Amino acid sequence: MSVPPGGRVWRVGVAGLGNVGAGVLGFLAERPDFAPAGGRVVVSGVSARSRSRPRPVNISGLAWFDDPVALAASPDTDIFVELVGGSDGPAKAAVEAALKAGKPVVTANKALIAEHGAELAALAEEQGVPLLFEAAVMGGTPAVKMLREAMVGDEVRSVAGILNGTCNYILTEMQNKGGAFADVLAEAQRLGYAEADPIMDVGGFDAAHKITILAALAFGCAPNYAAAEIEGIEQVALVDIQLAKDLGYRIKLVASADRTEDGVLVRVHPTLVPLDHPLALAGGALNALFIEGTRIGRIFIQGPGAGSGPTAAAVAADIADVMAGAVRPVFQAPARALSPFTPVDPARSIGRAYLRFLVRDEPGVIAAVSETLAEAGVSIESFLQKPVEDAAGVPIVLTTHSVAESVLKAAIDRIAELPAVIDRPRLLRIARI
Ligand code: HSE
Repeated sequence: MSVPPGGRVWRVGVAGLGNVGAGVLGFLAERPDFAPAGGRVVVSGVSARSRSRPRPVNISGLAWFDDPVALAASPDTDIFVELVGGSDGPAKAAVEAALKAGKPVVTANKALIAEHGAELAALAEEQGVPLLFEAAVMGGTPAVKMLREAMVGDEVRSVAGILNGTCNYILTEMQNKGGAFADVLAEAQRLGYAEADPIMDVGGFDAAHKITILAALAFGCAPNYAAAEIEGIEQVALVDIQLAKDLGYRIKLVASADRTEDGVLVRVHPTLVPLDHPLALAGGALNALFIEGTRIGRIFIQGPGAGSGPTAAAVAADIADVMAGAVRPVFQAPARALSPFTPVDPARSIGRAYLRFLVRDEPGVIAAVSETLAEAGVSIESFLQKPVEDAAGVPIVLTTHSVAESVLKAAIDRIAELPAVIDRPRLLRIARI
């Protein structure tokens, strides 16, 4: 293609016209001058499941493709933007088709990158084309570029934060309004903050996809979603939110990745965070992230993790990188040089914990619980018993000093067998950040 005066025209094919896809088309329509690196962007074609669905943007003048693979392979597509979603199926097929045809790919698809990132990175690098996914993690808040580009001069030890806005919104509402999980989720769905099928969000899987990607970028290892330990927020009870607050904590869904001498530990679970900690203060649907580098120390970023406008801005930033000619390794190092991801057994991890027991209100119960913990080598840090008028039992809550998770779980098993303990104790971790 000859380069016209004013620079090259980049023909962008956009597959997936949901919230983010419509946001990208809206952005490009509003910003015909968008050219941070010179040149010009035009939309050459679009693809989605339904052509006629009502959308906030007019697509009648754009070439339509029923099949995103055909759009990816079209000779009129210079940059393929994949906003279809899903780890497999049409999204993966179309991204592979674009890369095989030597075309740069921009995607917001965290499931695809977390589950197939290593093979797609190898394909992109073999073809010498960029595969960019800033919008896949934290929406418009630039975590991906920060780790991939700005922090390559450091060795990152850990990343941890709130990576799912839906869960953060639900936990914040439970805390502020005193609602139970199921009621707050139903209200969030009614208001459009949660999907009709919320499992990817509330089950912790969306956050796990994102932290898997950040771990690969931070540590230069191949993404390994299967190794992530995942617990969602479905089991977070209002009583835990209230008791945690009495102890000086807020419950957040924290996703973390730590590099240790033994390997990498990637986890997502509800976590107690001190009330004055920046993660505790990131309320509503906000996302927030700590990055800890050996030389740089701690960095904290916070911002919107979803939404059409912010996510479209992240997609546009990746398009700008393609236009600038930037071709970097897809993760922190070339695909062939990524270290294998050696998962650390979570049972070996050490940390403080919150335990809630429902017990019969009778003499000697607290002594029996604390003796069992002492025999197992678990040291109690604080203890709280609420006078509750409930025939079902009374909750007692304690926090522990640092302890190996395997030791703690063995102690919990023994406590669960005590005659005065009514059901299995609830374990929540306390943040180490
Ligand atoms: N559903 C995600 C969230 C946004 O609630 O944060 C897209 O990843």
